[in-house]
Parts: sequence; C-alpha cells; structure tokens
Amino acid sequence: MNIITDLKILDRDHLETPHVQRARGSGNGKKVYIETYGCQMNVSDSEIVASVLLEHGYSITTRPEEADVVLLNTCAIREHAEQKVRARLNVFRARKRREHLQIGVLGCMAERLRHKLLEQEQLVDVVAGPDAYRDLPRLLDVAEESGQAAVNVQLSREETYADIAPVRYASNGISAFVSIMRGCNNMCSFCVVPFTRGRERSRPVTSILAECAALVEAGYKEVTVLGQNVNSYRYEQDGHIVSFAELLYRISLISPELRVRYSTSHPKDCSDELLHVHRERPNVCNYIHLPVQSGSTRVLQRMRRTYTREEYLALIERVRTIIPDVSLSTDIIAGFCGETEEDHQETLSLMEEVRFDMAYMFAYSERPDTYAARKYRDDVPEAVKKRRLSEIIALQQQISLENNRQEIGRVHTILVEGPSRRSEEQFCGRTDTNKMVVFDRQHFQPGQYIRVRITDCTSATLFGEPLGVTTLAEEARTISHALNT
Ligand code: SAH
Ligand code: SF4
Ligand code: F3S
Repeated sequence: MNIITDLKILDRDHLETPHVQRARGSGNGKKVYIETYGCQMNVSDSEIVASVLLEHGYSITTRPEEADVVLLNTCAIREHAEQKVRARLNVFRARKRREHLQIGVLGCMAERLRHKLLEQEQLVDVVAGPDAYRDLPRLLDVAEESGQAAVNVQLSREETYADIAPVRYASNGISAFVSIMRGCNNMCSFCVVPFTRGRERSRPVTSILAECAALVEAGYKEVTVLGQNVNSYRYEQDGHIVSFAELLYRISLISPELRVRYSTSHPKDCSDELLHVHRERPNVCNYIHLPVQSGSTRVLQRMRRTYTREEYLALIERVRTIIPDVSLSTDIIAGFCGETEEDHQETLSLMEEVRFDMAYMFAYSERPDTYAARKYRDDVPEAVKKRRLSEIIALQQQISLENNRQEIGRVHTILVEGPSRRSEEQFCGRTDTNKMVVFDRQHFQPGQYIRVRITDCTSATLFGEPLGVTTLAEEARTISHALNT
C-alpha cells in the first residue's frame, strides 16, 4: 500500500511515474477507469481504490474507451441516483459483448443490489462494498480466472483505510478531501447510508494529521475533511478522547496557508467548542453546512433527526453570535411521508428566517429497508412533492441572490482554482465563505490566494475585480473586516 507514514502525494501527473510502474501484482498494467457517483465520501473512496489498484500493478486512466476494467463507484441515496448507474452499466455491458472488459460495481449500491446485479441481470464481474476495497485486486483476479462474478460486500466495524494514501488522480492539486471517519450511527428514518456504509468509526488522529501535512508538503492549499457526521468524530489517544473540534484545531495548526473545511455536521451535536475553533483559527473557513431537512418539528420527529425547529433556530443564532461572518448552507427534503401543506409552509418560513446562502434540495425518495419505508406510507403524491420542491428552490434562489447582492463592494480573499467553466480567460476560486467568484485571469496562478472586490453576482456566482496576490497569514494580520464595513 501507499503507506501514510511514508507518504508521497500522487495525483494525475504521477500515474505513470516509476513508483507506479515498479508496483508488481496481478494488474500487469491493465488500465482501470473509475467513475464516481454520489457524495464527496465516494470521491475520496475512489482515491483509495486507485491507490490499492496501483499498488497491485494496475494503472489508472481517465478515458473509459481505453479501459480494461471499468469500476462504477455508486450512490444509493435516492432512486434517481440508482437509475443513473443502471443506465451507465448498460452502456458498458454493450461494450463487454464486443470486447474483453471487466466491470465492477463499488460503493453504496453494492450491498443492496448484489443479487440483482449478479443473478438477474448478470451485469458485472465484481461487486465490492465500501469496506471491501483492499480486496479488489483479489476479486478482479477471481472473476478473471473463474469467469464468474466475485463479491465482497462485508461491512466492517474497524476499517478506516487509515494506512492507505489516497491517489488523487482527478485532483486540481490545490484542494483535497481527507476522510476522517466512515459509516453513520444516526438512523434518520429516510436515509439508506447506515445500511450501505455500516457503523460509524473514526480514523486515527495521527494518520489524518500525517495525510494533511503531506498534502501541504505537496503544495495543496485546502483540505475538506469528510464524514457523514463529523461532529461525532472521537478517537482515543493516550488516554484522552480527541473530539472533532480538537482534531480540526490540530489540522489548522499544520500550516497557516492551508484552508480547512469540513462536511457534514449534524445539527444535533454542533458544539460551542467547534464554533470557537472557527472563530479563533483564521484558516478554518467561516462556512458551515448544517442540513435541516425540514422546518416542521412534527416532520423532524418522524425523520428522527432528534432536534426541533426551535432548537435548530437557536443553534443558528448561537453559530451567528460566535462566528459573525459565517456563511450557512443546508439540505432540505420536500414531501417526506405525512408532510402536510402546513409542514411545507414551515420549511419555507424557516428558510426565510435563516436565509441560507445555499441549499441542496431534494424530493423525498423512499429507500428500501429504512425505518420510513417500513413504518410510514410514502403518501405525498409525486406532483405535490415536485410542486413543493420547486417552491423551495425558487425561494432559495431568491434568498441566495439577495445575499449575494449584499456582497457587492466587499473584498474577499479567494483561493484561485483554475479556469472558470465558461472561459479560459476567466479564473474562478472560492471565498472563505465558500462562494464561487469569477474574475479576469490576468497573471494569476491556480493555488494563489488573491484579494478580489465583488462587482456583480447571480444567485450562484459572484463576479469580482482582482486586487492582487496575498497570503492567509497576511490576511489574518490586516483587518479584512475593516474593508467589509
Ligand atoms: N450525513 C449527512 C447527509 C448525507 S445524505 C447529514 O446527515 O447531514 C445528503 C442529503 O441527501 C441529506 O441531507 C438529505 O437531505 C438527502 N437525502 C437523504 N436520503 C434521502 C431520501 N431518501 N430522499 C431524498 N433525499 C434524501
Ligand atoms: Fe443519513 Fe442521517 Fe446519517 Fe446523514 S446523519 S448519513 S442523513 S442517517
Ligand atoms: Fe450516496 Fe453513499 Fe454518499 S448513498 S450520498 S454515495 S454515502
């Protein structure tokens, strides 16, 4: 494995380096193409998969047409996510009829669909669940030798892949995800994740810090630490329990030029200690994603979120008191079982009250085996779900636009990521508060921190005029707040 203590950060440019070519194993240089669906955890897991396979003599390609092995790292969060993967599998299956190709299904659909995938549809050669990635080289060998599908969907109570250095094959070399825990113990009634990813477990502190330090060494400027509920991170070290707040604090000390973000925090256990880390550490970004799901206490109870509307609003007030410039985003589900028009109005009114900068918004999609699927009726008609969702989206767009208009004239420090989606002549980068800013490229380079004055906006993007290169340390010294008031 690419052991963390002897870590070299490998990214797209290093895939054909001697380090990789030296690796021996059953791969014999076979090219693997990995396609990733779902959340950031899956993106991070695909980097683990790449690492495991490179060490076994495979190579990684970003071009599906030249692959000997195609791996789909799947998501099961909503029905639609699964449909996309099935459609994609059909494309690769058609190719498999014409030429030799191994197809693997990884990730969150693996456990649930293994029987269907293997027996009814005979679609795939390998099925590997989220805790079985070390076993992938063997599974590929077995499938190749036996001509039959090989499966490992065993979930683990311990696996954190702590000793495997992810290979950031699709990285921009500036921002990286670092997984700090796996699984989830929360059992929200709508959610399939505890079934697909198993019990919660935290990765050792030392291996997280070593990975972040190696990223800094390799020139990365931003890490987003990942878990389904980062607030419940806890790791016992030398008789002392390290909390998420302490972990974040220690990551922020690695380098003053490393921006630190995280996702996702559950509102039920967002501690003051954590909020104070945001306040005290200039490189811990003033941005928190706090999924509310619904504005109705009755619905929240049925969702088993363990907080009420009032508790959520009190939390937002606490967050804003401790971190005055904080930016907030959320997740919202429209049309959960039993949701009335009144409940829906409460979601809209909560959105008006909090005024999130951004939201991910979904229509409820029933997931097999969840508490909601077993105990409640999915009784909000599809058309009503859609209508409620579109009202939620319209309101959020209006609020995002209004919030963004307030930014015009302000100065922000942004981390330059690279060309914007629209034009090579324009660069883009995020503010500390996670807002995307587009500006003229001029002489700036990806990976630089620059100051930008905001001149215009849409609901999703800010436009700015660059003022010059800076550093985070410099920004922490000068009173950037003064420019904003
Ligand atoms: N662990 C994170 C959420 C991960 S899933 C947290 O608790 O904050 C990301 C989002 O998908 C959830 O916040 C929820 O809004 C949405 N989601 C999950 N299950 C869903 C379902 N069955 N139907 C619709 N949306 C769902
Ligand atoms: Fe799903 Fe809830 Fe766990 Fe998030 S906290 S992954 S919504 S069960
Ligand atoms: Fe999807 Fe699994 Fe993430 S279900 S959202 S890929 S944890």
